[in-house]
Amino acid sequence: MAHPLTEKITQQLTQQQASGLLRQRKLLGSGTDNHPVNFDFSHNDYLGLASSTELAQALYQGALTYGVGSKASPLVSGYGEAHQLLEQKLCAITGHQACMLFCSGFSANSTLMKTLFDSTDVVIADKLVHASIIDGLVDSGAKLARYLHNDIDSAERLLAKHPNNVLITESVFSMDGDSAPINALSALCQQYNSWLIVDDAHGFGVVDPHGSAAITAKQVDIQVVTFGKALGCQGAAILASQDVIDFLVANARHYIYSTALSPANAYLAYAAIELIQKSPHLPSQLNDNITLFRTLASQAGINLTASQTAIQPIIIGDNALTMMVAESLAQKGFKVGAIRSPTVPVGSARLRITLNAKHTSLQINQLVTQLALLLIDQPIENP
Ligand SMILES: Cc1ncc(COP(=O)(O)O)c(C=O)c1O
Repeated sequence: MAHPLTEKITQQLTQQQASGLLRQRKLLGSGTDNHPVNFDFSHNDYLGLASSTELAQALYQGALTYGVGSKASPLVSGYGEAHQLLEQKLCAITGHQACMLFCSGFSANSTLMKTLFDSTDVVIADKLVHASIIDGLVDSGAKLARYLHNDIDSAERLLAKHPNNVLITESVFSMDGDSAPINALSALCQQYNSWLIVDDAHGFGVVDPHGSAAITAKQVDIQVVTFGKALGCQGAAILASQDVIDFLVANARHYIYSTALSPANAYLAYAAIELIQKSPHLPSQLNDNITLFRTLASQAGINLTASQTAIQPIIIGDNALTMMVAESLAQKGFKVGAIRSPTVPVGSARLRITLNAKHTSLQINQLVTQLALLLIDQPIENP
């Protein structure tokens, strides 16, 4: 008799395959049918730091000075000088009192939620917050009250119903690229004696004109930043008051029972922040590229959303059609994200195009030409 798990796995894989929702990995550097990827508009390395020689050298230097592995969890002996250096830097640029590091943004978010809340809590969150927040809240047993995406009135109605509470949002939304009205949410939270928690994964490091973070302790009570996007490396941090961090360090099971971020990686993230601070041309090049893409795409008649950030979605609607457009682009050497439900609501499947500071005007021009061909001039249709 087949093992019940084998049956379950086979059944689910078959269903996902049949509905066109089977997610599969592709080896980096190869597009559909092994077409080479010449132009990559799919990743979150917004400033192009992931392949920088300076950061490769920093990683080497960090490994030599502090070691490649942390060897233990932070509460045993895995918390060292490199971690402290990075935490102090993060506190200095955001104004928070204290900080703790994680190996990924997913673990930082989910740990934060399941350590702070329990089944007696009602937590207010934007309808589109990241899966890591939702998973952590589900694990915590808290009730989730969701307000309409970026809608201040809807958020206020929930805060009025549940004052003295917590409101959670992303700064820049990962699949839509639009920015939350942080100042308005912050004022609202103060009015209702509530904390504001912001997942700043896609904002941190990008909107950083003078070396300090765009979102700081002045506006938010707890801030999660990640190092795998604009910083081009890996890991994450929770920033908050000393009391909150002391509480999390003492109670967050994921932090207590897991090997700490490697010191080489902590030093690397520190070096990435320093590099961004001395390279104001990078965010400015990124902004020029965003403007160029938006200008060319609207001139070509392509429907854009209101996003002004590096994340530029083009909503196609249908899952299969979205995959077909992305595959046609891949055949021409352009890699873009193809995002389907359930990651985004049904009927809003999209191309997720991400710009970075290192794209050339020619590459952006060529991408828009291909998009116009596939979406406007000779639109692909579902068979
Ligand atoms: C909004 C948001 N938060 C958190 C994460 C998780 O961060 P990490 O990739 O470091 O796990 C992501 C990752 O894609 C994200 O988009």
